[in-house]
Amino acid sequence: MKISIFGLGYVGAVSLACLSRDGHDVVGVDIEPAKLDLIKNGKTPVVEEGMVELMAQVAASGHVSVTTDAVQAVLSTEISLVCVGTPSAANGSQDQGAVLRLAEQIGEALKQKSEPHVVVFRSTLVPGTVEDVLRPIIERASGKRDGVDFHLCFQPEFLREGSSIRDYDKPPFTIVGANHEYAAERLQALFGHLPCKFLKTSVRAAEMMKYCCNNFHALKITFANETARLCGALGVDAFEVMDLVCQDTQLNISKAYLKPGFAFGGSCLPKDLRATTYLAKTHDLELPMLSGILASNRQHLDLALDKLLALGKRKIGFIGLSFKTGTDDLRESPLVTLAEQLIGKGMQLSIYDPEVHLASLLGANRSFVQKHLPHIGEMLKGDLAEVVQGSEVLVMGLSGAEIAAQVAGLARADQDLLDLVNLPNKADFKARVQGLCW
Ligand SMILES: NC(=O)c1ccc[n+]([C@@H]2O[C@H](COP(=O)([O-])OP(=O)(O)OC[C@H]3O[C@@H](n4cnc5c(N)ncnc54)[C@H](O)[C@@H]3O)[C@@H](O)[C@H]2O)c1
Repeated sequence: MKISIFGLGYVGAVSLACLSRDGHDVVGVDIEPAKLDLIKNGKTPVVEEGMVELMAQVAASGHVSVTTDAVQAVLSTEISLVCVGTPSAANGSQDQGAVLRLAEQIGEALKQKSEPHVVVFRSTLVPGTVEDVLRPIIERASGKRDGVDFHLCFQPEFLREGSSIRDYDKPPFTIVGANHEYAAERLQALFGHLPCKFLKTSVRAAEMMKYCCNNFHALKITFANETARLCGALGVDAFEVMDLVCQDTQLNISKAYLKPGFAFGGSCLPKDLRATTYLAKTHDLELPMLSGILASNRQHLDLALDKLLALGKRKIGFIGLSFKTGTDDLRESPLVTLAEQLIGKGMQLSIYDPEVHLASLLGANRSFVQKHLPHIGEMLKGDLAEVVQGSEVLVMGLSGAEIAAQVAGLARADQDLLDLVNLPNKADFKARVQGLCW
């Protein structure tokens, strides 16, 4: 393929070297003539393992050329990879100056081009940038249409500095955000041979998932480091502890707990977080990430409260009360807290939870609910239909296909439903279903 690469930093230079090594004709474009001179002379503009040898090899192959002329680069190729920098501005926002200027130039080039052209944004871009910002610029400058005359897509880059050639050849996956088949097909032809999954998604989801990956990496590092600070203060071997944590691939290093839903609660997570942060305090340690978790969890609960209050209705039916589906444990259940808050605002509640039977609640579980919902006996109903029929608003806090089907069969068109569990059958509801944040 004939490929132009814009921005010859870590991402662009490594892509140029690897794509030309794989037999493609690559035109490299940068605004820094010094970088272009290096590449022209078979030298690498970035310090990366294997790049010295690879750049010398590909420059000699005749598959690489360089230019500062963006328009010419587009005209002489069929696909453009945009890898320019998107650094932080002083206020923390993304500085998109380079990519905006480039979009203008790509548009001008496309104006002169009659063959189809694919533009792949590989720079990390805040969600919405390609569709809301870059596409209008390119369409205006070219007088042409995305998906008709040219094809925009977003393909996040996952290479890590220091191992970028190895990462190029063995990425975790290839993700292509494309609204049209043509762009995805061209990228499959280019990267489909790599030993990983090739996943197609929307442009916005691809933009967002890149941030999600980097944020998750930062979160993991900070988790290990905060744990190590506490371990250090307690005289525990942090490496041994984190090693043991990583041995659990069922709950720790796994998909578990990585699904959006309602706030967490129960008899373990909140109390153990509180004990951890208290312990840190007694050793004069700051653990801002761990200390922030309960505050974030509370924000999630408050979001549900705000959404319910915004509906302006008084009769609210809870489907589910315990801290998770399938248990009668009410201790620190976020649904109990939500119910408590709503009662405090003068709402009338009725509650159905097939696992919660007042007569059989014992010990700490019983005293927790008696303290927070002293009138639970009047609110708790044994019959789902009674709760649904008597409510203007339903709060769905139980997951599972069976209960979802039962509620869908009973809910009326004049009712609102706040979905805290990502109902699998939203389309089956006559009621107005509103997800918590989905
Ligand atoms: N570095 C990484 O490990 C990595 C990994 C994944 C994704 N990313 C993302 O990829 C993008 C590029 O990162 P990088 O580290 O390679 O950046 P970089 O700063 O090393 O390189 C960017 C290059 O773009 C050039 N440039 C700027 N404006 C230009 C223009 N108008 N036309 C042509 N070239 C222009 C610069 O001169 C520079 O050489 C960023 O959005 C970054 O967030 C980086």
